[in-house]
Amino acid sequence: MFGKKKSSPQIDKEQLELIENAQKRIKQKKRLYVHFVLFLIGAIFLIVANTVIGIGKDVTLFGKEWFLFAILLWLFFFLYHLFNVFVTHKFIGKAWEKQQLEKLVAKQKDRIEKIKQDLVKEETVLAKSEVYNKTKNINKKQSTLTIIAAAAENNAIGKDNQLIWHLSDDLKRFKALTSGHHIIMGRKTFESFPKPLPNRTHVVITRQANYQAPDGVIIVNSLEDALDASKSDKQPFIIGGGQIYKQAMGIADKIELTRVHSTFEADAFFPEIDFNVWKETNNVFHKKDSDNEFDFSFLTYERK
Ligand SMILES: NC(=O)c1ccc[n+]([C@@H]2O[C@H](COP(=O)([O-])OP(=O)(O)OC[C@H]3O[C@@H](n4cnc5c(N)ncnc54)[C@H](OP(=O)(O)O)[C@@H]3O)[C@@H](O)[C@H]2O)c1
Repeated sequence: MFGKKKSSPQIDKEQLELIENAQKRIKQKKRLYVHFVLFLIGAIFLIVANTVIGIGKDVTLFGKEWFLFAILLWLFFFLYHLFNVFVTHKFIGKAWEKQQLEKLVAKQKDRIEKIKQDLVKEETVLAKSEVYNKTKNINKKQSTLTIIAAAAENNAIGKDNQLIWHLSDDLKRFKALTSGHHIIMGRKTFESFPKPLPNRTHVVITRQANYQAPDGVIIVNSLEDALDASKSDKQPFIIGGGQIYKQAMGIADKIELTRVHSTFEADAFFPEIDFNVWKETNNVFHKKDSDNEFDFSFLTYERK
């Protein structure tokens, strides 16, 4: 009922050109072949004309028969034809070459455009990652929160709100390390001092709403607020006692520990050091002497 429409094969322009050029090439090769055959026949005819028929028998050039030069000239034209067909491909023509060149330029332009687009995409990704890194750096901690403590072999640190030992070198080291810095402490530790320590900013943590302290002492209600109050300091110290050490272990970057090589009865303790989290970076042993009543070691731990 519905007659089938005869479909003619669809060949695009580029394919058509290639076919045309292939046809041109075949024609050129055919012409070369004809040229070769004519050359052979012509050469034989010239030889016969001269030697058999006797045409121009007496004509010589540099002592040689004229037909030799005629054949050589013809050979030269044939070789020139051969060179054009197989070496310079001259048969293709200038117009075709120009067309190909234009196509090539158009293709290169397309590629450049694509590369530009890819570049824009990559730049966007890169910019995003730079913003990410900048944000990361802003969020990165700018300070080193350091716990400083003296603990016995059984982790004892104090009893009846007092220190248990007298180690002169340890007190000197405490002074040297903490001077000029913020020292964060629990209310009980603060109350164990006869008066605030000189040349340090005291930050005292208490749950009491109206805790009274001398001028210059900062009172806060949480460890987070204590850190906030110390943010201008590049190295704030957590100086105790037991309750505050325990809460600060998870956020501190460094521990300066004086390990007293003895055991004591106590009511305040230093938390266990998890060696999966902390690595020892310094260890200096001191023997007991007239100023230090026990052997001890200055140890430094840093978060892995
Ligand atoms: N060997 C050493 O290196 C060393 C160093 C420092 C201290 N110590 C000793 O340690 C002992 C004191 O330690 P400690 O554990 O008994 O007391 P502490 O840690 O010094 O202070 C505890 C008090 O801090 C406040 N506090 C704790 N956590 C808090 C939180 N999350 N929010 C708000 N306030 C909070 C509370 O104060 P309020 O009750 O007022 O609310 C709490 O009673 C003393 O014997 C002292 O001599 C030893």
